[in-house]
Amino acid sequence: MSEDVQGQAAEESESSESSEATIAVHWREEGYYPPPPKFIGQANASDPAILDRFAEANFPECFREYADLLHWDEYWHTTLDTSNPPFWKWFVGGKLNASYNCVDRHLARDRNKAALIWVPEPEDAGDTVITYQELYRRVNEFAAVLQDLGVQAGDRVTLHMPMVPELAVTMLACARLGVVHSQVFAGFSGGACGHRIADSDSTILITMDAYYRSGDLLDHKVKADEAVEAARKEGTEVEKVLVWRRFPGQYSAKTPMVEGRDVFVDELLADHRGAVVEPVSMPAEAPLFLMYTSGTTGRPKGCQHSTGGYLSYVAGTSKFYQDIHPEDTYWCMADIGWITGHSYIVYGPLSLGTTSVIYEGTPNYPDAGRPWRIAERLGVNIFHTSPTAIRMLRKVGPDEPAKYDYHFKHMTTVGEPIEPEVYRWYYSTVGKGEAVIVDTWWQTETGGFIGTGLPALFPMKPGSCGPAALGIYLDILDENGDPIPKGSGKAGNITVRNPWPGIFQTIWGQPDRFVSTYFAKYNKDPDSKDWHDWPYFAGDGAVQAEDGYFRILGRVDDVINVAGHRLGTKELESSALAVEEVAEAAAVPVIDDVRGRAVEMYISLKPGYSADSGVEAKVKAAIETDIGKIARPKNIWIVPDMPKTRSGKIMRRVIAATSNFADIGDITTLANPEVVEQIRHQVQNAKHAKGEVPRELTEAEEAEIKAFGSE
Ligand code: WTA
Repeated sequence: MSEDVQGQAAEESESSESSEATIAVHWREEGYYPPPPKFIGQANASDPAILDRFAEANFPECFREYADLLHWDEYWHTTLDTSNPPFWKWFVGGKLNASYNCVDRHLARDRNKAALIWVPEPEDAGDTVITYQELYRRVNEFAAVLQDLGVQAGDRVTLHMPMVPELAVTMLACARLGVVHSQVFAGFSGGACGHRIADSDSTILITMDAYYRSGDLLDHKVKADEAVEAARKEGTEVEKVLVWRRFPGQYSAKTPMVEGRDVFVDELLADHRGAVVEPVSMPAEAPLFLMYTSGTTGRPKGCQHSTGGYLSYVAGTSKFYQDIHPEDTYWCMADIGWITGHSYIVYGPLSLGTTSVIYEGTPNYPDAGRPWRIAERLGVNIFHTSPTAIRMLRKVGPDEPAKYDYHFKHMTTVGEPIEPEVYRWYYSTVGKGEAVIVDTWWQTETGGFIGTGLPALFPMKPGSCGPAALGIYLDILDENGDPIPKGSGKAGNITVRNPWPGIFQTIWGQPDRFVSTYFAKYNKDPDSKDWHDWPYFAGDGAVQAEDGYFRILGRVDDVINVAGHRLGTKELESSALAVEEVAEAAAVPVIDDVRGRAVEMYISLKPGYSADSGVEAKVKAAIETDIGKIARPKNIWIVPDMPKTRSGKIMRRVIAATSNFADIGDITTLANPEVVEQIRHQVQNAKHAKGEVPRELTEAEEAEIKAFGSE
């Protein structure tokens, strides 16, 4: 890449201060890339007046602009009700239906426009193009199936589906009836799915028999049987398992269908050909879906999202940040099983009536040119993916994009911090220097982007997500709740000062945990009815540069972000602890050049057991069964003892430093400091032997490792 495209010269910014409470970070400030004039000329948000409209003085009414993108059966009377902090209510009095907004209302003008283009993984299989009319038909027919089963507004239904258009159809059919869907990522195990079924009290599971991943047709139905079993152990009986078939009429799984419980969806649909189901008009505050995510305890959190606030927020951010126009072909190469896919494959793009591409398989199947062939063939002009996918495609096919004739106007990166070097490859090689990049910082909890710049108005800066999103007022606070000024070079906890329509409403069934996890840290008066007293604590460390751009450093809690997927250390550890031989377990992140972070697990054995008993394989298997393959540790180290404080707590930061060859830091407060050197010797020698010595860590990575694990 030539130097001139970097725009402004890079300036050096340094800070050397460091204290216990505040992590000091210093690195080179990156240069800016200006958005191309051609992009600015056509952008949905190119007039800086939009920034004034969303200025704090216009809060909360500014968010009318988002809600007005939707069709309301009844207009709301109160934009924001803050009477019961921090349980905010948006657009109170309003009624709408999400499925109507994503499907029906586009029929008049765009009946025959592609709503979804599904690209199956096998490259010789043709695409499935689903027009808005066809989507309408499919959503109605499946809604009729659900209705027939007696499912009603407010009921929860768990989905465990792969990347097929039937997943979007299922979500929209639930939304049509006001039924709360809870989609579990298909890569999660049956056990993990069963746990979520029980937590949400779903009596219906909707799944698919099989799907393609890296060239194999995987048997997925087997996970449904495991899920039902796991839910039963927790006291929830699944009454019906609805099985979509990857090839309708032909069963591709080995496990038998259970008489009376399991049914093929294609057979049920046959009885509902042409059915039309009236969309149920839902209060804005009615929950639309649950999305589970990991936290600091072993119990995943069912983040509950609203219908009106959420849909307004994803429609607004899709319009202004994804710059979606009706004529665009938009491809978000992420999984619908994560919040990214809910907001920016299904609800955001469809609410705007655009064409959204869904790809079944892995990005590099059968080779690293696959995404670019798809982009070329379909004329994709907006592309959206994660740093992990970008790192991987860069590693295995750095020259592939140049071979294909596609042209992006816009690209997104989401889910993890992106290294400036990787960002630059994305910009110049994938984007061919023609596309803007929006780096979007947000979370399952936030519903949509909350830290990112409007692409026509803010120049890009590699590694920074940019300023706060419209109507979002971000602060970085220190441990005492005092703001850390921009440009100080000091990192702290990033917080949102105000409520916004996309924020989740609560943790399903755990309202106290909702308050304690996200609001208690910086709330000084639990009785306050003033929203200003309830900053949202995101759980991420961040630093704000002089120009106001935020740089997200990663989690400050016990969560490891592997390839953009949040894994709770407690969940990983409790799986390991279920293995008979294991006395203690600790999971830590290790810097990984493709996946961002990987998991390493340290275990100590109960007296009388030896490491030869296959314990390593047992721990791996336990994690795969409880969570899924994605969580499989890169290494499992069986150590004589864990470094502990005098009160017996495992010092995760010490082992994290060991795994990453980082500075071990102060160990004088340990009860057993001698074990540190022993473990370091064991682990680092083994890593040398395996060729797994990491590159030198950046300042930010050092800081993250140092801060890892609550002690
Ligand atoms: C991280 C994914 C840096 C962050 C949408 C956050 C990011 C967690 C970015 C949420 C980004 C997300 N830059 N880090 N642009 N986006 N993160 O809930 O640590 O799966 O808290 O939502 O991912 O992950 P989640």
